[in-house]
Amino acid sequence: MTNANSVPMVTLGDELSVSAIGFGAMALTPVYGEVDDTESLATLNRCVDLGVTFIDTANVYGGGENEKLIARLLADRRDEVTLATKFGIVGNPAARGDAAYVRQCIDESLQRLRTDVVDLYYMHRRDHNVPIEETVGAMAELVAAGKVRHLGLSEVTADELRAAVAVHPIAAVQSEWSIWSRDVERNVVPAAAELGVGFVPYSPLGRGFLTGTIRSAADLPSTDFRRNMPRFSEGALDTNLAVVEVVKSAAELQGSTAAQVALAWLRYRADALGVASVPIPGTRRAERVQENLGSLSVTLTREQLDTLDAAAAAVSGNRSADLSWVSAGRE
Ligand SMILES: NC(=O)c1ccc[n+]([C@@H]2O[C@H](COP(=O)([O-])OP(=O)(O)OC[C@H]3O[C@@H](n4cnc5c(N)ncnc54)[C@H](OP(=O)(O)O)[C@@H]3O)[C@@H](O)[C@H]2O)c1
Repeated sequence: MTNANSVPMVTLGDELSVSAIGFGAMALTPVYGEVDDTESLATLNRCVDLGVTFIDTANVYGGGENEKLIARLLADRRDEVTLATKFGIVGNPAARGDAAYVRQCIDESLQRLRTDVVDLYYMHRRDHNVPIEETVGAMAELVAAGKVRHLGLSEVTADELRAAVAVHPIAAVQSEWSIWSRDVERNVVPAAAELGVGFVPYSPLGRGFLTGTIRSAADLPSTDFRRNMPRFSEGALDTNLAVVEVVKSAAELQGSTAAQVALAWLRYRADALGVASVPIPGTRRAERVQENLGSLSVTLTREQLDTLDAAAAAVSGNRSADLSWVSAGRE
């Protein structure tokens, strides 16, 4: 099945059907360098024009400004967009998931987004002081109230996912997954496949690193969030360039770009593991939306897949400064 723009559709869990490539809007408010709202809106509109209609934001991005920016896209295109947002991050790192807070957050998000329903509402991080059943139970009440259509969970372990599914169907797990972040393949992806839950790989381009555009820490602006991440520290970054070289070599053989290979690899891995999956690459630039969408027609040979699969072994540094903040640290 394809949408009106001939982009294939993928059915995640809970019968949620979305474009086979989504768009992550996080960096449209400053996180990886400066932004320009006019350019960002042009990028968002290009997404929808091209049929990349699964748009991802969160209440915490830009302190709410990201949702307000998305509202400007939705103002006259709400029906064309499958809108995903999240709640739960209240510090770095700190999460909140009590029922009252869940109810408060959705109302605030709906107000900022200037819409009356969110298509996919994620718990962004687990609050370990609250049973996950309580948080998901409160989210389920939002479905019953018509404020939310489907539920998702970010960076949960396989056990947390099982507990959640017992309360309400879960459409998607959103966690980091890419050529250099593969820990989810051990437990979380297999659990999602078994439970009929979709998977939404975030940072599928390795926060830009796998595209080959970052060659040293000096390429990152002084305010860039990635400067605090273990893999982007000076020593680790040099080691990790070996991974990028593997991706670039595959891209050259293909006549495609490194970004396209990174996204195509994810498609093959998801297929191999039997999970419905839709990555959400982010970019500030409209032309890169088209490039990333082009990954859907990139084919990789068995030999290329083997070489790309092996590349992760060379990665230096954890994917998060605090591993307990992501599923890998709690399994
Ligand atoms: N659930 C969570 O905890 C969580 C955590 C992180 C992210 N996310 C979600 O996942 C989305 C994507 O993740 P992300 O933004 O961290 O990383 P990403 O998509 O892996 O990479 C984004 C970076 O790649 C660059 N880029 C994109 N396409 C490119 C291309 N074709 N060629 C060269 N460079 C390219 C962008 O730079 P330019 O802007 O300069 O193009 C940007 O800096 C976010 O927007 C957010 O919605 C969720």
